[in-house]
Amino acid sequence: MGKITLKGDIIYTPDKDKLKIHKDSYLIIENGLVVGITKELDSLSEDYEIRDFTGKLIIPGFVDLHLHAPQYPNRGIGMDKELIPWLNTYTFIEENKYSNLDYSRRVFEIFIRDLWKVGTTRSVVFSTVFLNSTKLLMDMFIESGLGAYVGKVNMDKNTTPAMEENTQRSLRETEELLLEYMHKSDLVKPIITPRFVPTCSKELLIGLGHLAHKYNVPVQSHMNENISEVYWVKELYPEIRNYADIYDSLGLFGKTKTVMAHCIYNTDDETELMANNGVYAAHCPYSNLNLSSGMMPARKYLKASVKIGLGSDISGGHELSIPKVMTAAIEISKMVWLMSNRQYNPLTLSETFYLATKGGGSFFGKVGSFEEGYECDALVVDVSNLLTNKSLSLEEKLEKFIYTGDERNIIERYVKGIRIEEPFM
Ligand code: GUN
Ligand code: FE
Repeated sequence: MGKITLKGDIIYTPDKDKLKIHKDSYLIIENGLVVGITKELDSLSEDYEIRDFTGKLIIPGFVDLHLHAPQYPNRGIGMDKELIPWLNTYTFIEENKYSNLDYSRRVFEIFIRDLWKVGTTRSVVFSTVFLNSTKLLMDMFIESGLGAYVGKVNMDKNTTPAMEENTQRSLRETEELLLEYMHKSDLVKPIITPRFVPTCSKELLIGLGHLAHKYNVPVQSHMNENISEVYWVKELYPEIRNYADIYDSLGLFGKTKTVMAHCIYNTDDETELMANNGVYAAHCPYSNLNLSSGMMPARKYLKASVKIGLGSDISGGHELSIPKVMTAAIEISKMVWLMSNRQYNPLTLSETFYLATKGGGSFFGKVGSFEEGYECDALVVDVSNLLTNKSLSLEEKLEKFIYTGDERNIIERYVKGIRIEEPFM
């Protein structure tokens, strides 16, 4: 893998409050890790292979902290219902199809190729309840070179008969997946994936908590997404103080690295627990709009030191592109600002860029930044077709790309220092 440098206009966010910009500089990479950024190459650097992108932006790869691979065929359709009827009318019907491996392969090829296209270099993915289809998805991610956590969904109630798992079998299959994939790949790893409280018995949740602890693997689920869901959970667990306490009391809320999608209707206690336990919130603004779920108060959570990343939540969300999700996050934060009597300031570009890169990337370790020692996931972006005669600063060029660019502006993608070709061609 050796030593390479990428030359161009380098932009990243070590801190969320300000973009760090190195105009016309060299990003130096050794064995997949960032060694540093310099304006001039010295003689020591002569043995580096130089890839010259002068005039182009070099930014960290995007991180999608929450999406559902088997929902990809439903992207952009069936947007006329709220969460629970949406699950029952459209989503479970589609996910049922993934006992068929041919169908799975055809969808996953398009899904992974499109992730590559939009510059998502790492993602945290729900698969289906089906073990073999989940293994296939993991193998296909490994083949692509993109990074991912992938979870076999666990559901033993309140779903279609074909997907309602036997509790013990669900746990056995999850353990099989962990054992087979924990050490198979450096970039593609398993994650424990109880769908959400209403589709999991207490016995199943307890078993999954044990597995997470036993093998020290992370956890993903959904929480406090939609008003009717929150009421349903209250009915199911009348004795429990709040939604987060159910996961927490069963070892699924930060005992190992954990990400919860949505978190719109957190009580202050739940927000504090997330911060104390280091539980991530995956903010999925398009999904929250499409399913009439609500508006996550990102500023409030940032102030409370909750870790946040962005998620497309395909197919509750219709946009796979994280730059598009970024603009939605900024727009929603402006509405939250208005509705909070201007208490919670809107998110800035640099804060949102941080959430899309280093914020979500930290779920993977040292990912999402160009600080020394970070795994070098990078995109080379050519914004020239987006410009008019007006001259723009580098910050404005980034803003232009985020708001008006698309995958055609991304000319190269790197994961841990390796250039990734279009998969499955
Ligand atoms: N809650 C439980 N399952 C799902 C899902 O597939 N999508 C979303 N957005 N929320 C969920
Ligand atoms: Fe989701």
